[in-house]
Amino acid sequence: MIDSPSVQVRALPRRGVARTLAEDVRDGLGAARKYLPSKYFYDARGSELFDRICATPEYYPTRTENRLLERHAGEIIARATPASILELGAGSAAKTEHLFQACEYAGRRCVYQPLDVDGQMIRQAGARLVGRFRWLEVDGWAGDFVDAAGRLPPGARPRMIVFLGGTLGNFDEHQAPALLRALRSSLSGGDWFLLGVDRVKDPAVLDAAYNDAAGVTAAFNLNILRVINRKLGADFDPAGFAHHAFFDIDKRRIEMHLRSLRKQRATIPGVLPEVHFGVGESILTEISRKFTGPDLEALLRGAGLSPVVHYEAPGAYYSLLLCRPAVSPA
Ligand code: AVJ
Repeated sequence: MIDSPSVQVRALPRRGVARTLAEDVRDGLGAARKYLPSKYFYDARGSELFDRICATPEYYPTRTENRLLERHAGEIIARATPASILELGAGSAAKTEHLFQACEYAGRRCVYQPLDVDGQMIRQAGARLVGRFRWLEVDGWAGDFVDAAGRLPPGARPRMIVFLGGTLGNFDEHQAPALLRALRSSLSGGDWFLLGVDRVKDPAVLDAAYNDAAGVTAAFNLNILRVINRKLGADFDPAGFAHHAFFDIDKRRIEMHLRSLRKQRATIPGVLPEVHFGVGESILTEISRKFTGPDLEALLRGAGLSPVVHYEAPGAYYSLLLCRPAVSPA
């Protein structure tokens, strides 16, 4: 697709130290307790499976966040009056539409800066959005947002950085503050940060959300092995592994694993000649942290961000926090 004058997508310059899939796989599957970074779920098939997860009756976060955005987008835009909106992990940008709709109602224009690993996805989403919002200008960036967080492309001010979908939950107690601090460094006085995160709730509800009856989450989890097979020429047998996801109450996080159903081994040419799995041995493929209200306040303030408005879904199921940079960075 040729870029139209109002949709542009550029590659984010990679930092010299950016890690490759091969390096991440070597570290993760070479470790005593095996793990894989969850960002590798999202090839074309993985992104499609994720969209299907969002449509399952058990996976409430997407729907819940969408309702919050729909309901409060007008107020968010009225308060922040953003001249540009930069979105981390924008994907198909379905949820962000409420913000543009609110801009339109308010008679405001803004530039949309979607940032995603999948440049093709940004191009498609951008074309769809400018078809609907004629005034919208899309300045898209393809790349890894963790790698880019400390040196985001400049944007018209006031700018609003949005990080939705509960994706912050994929980052552990060291990574999440570091990511937020890096984002904070791209904000000046008058700028804004909009965060969507999932909350701690009845473990049965959480467990069900990551164990849908139709097995879509299981297929999504297993897809990471297919990604490694395809991109690295490995020979994992996805049928030799089972999806296992549960809420760890003490750590307040979902852990998603792939459990080996038998003693087996795999080869990843040039990366790891032999990876051995015992019966029941597992690979940790994702953490999805769930937060309490006080957790969120502390996390944001610790990163130099002050929550200004906290929108909560019924039953404290989900939070949207509109923040601004604290006067002196933490
Ligand atoms: C897109 C990372 C927010 O953690 O809930 C959904 C991904 N994993 N079901 C999440 C996911 C399993 C999702 N995030």
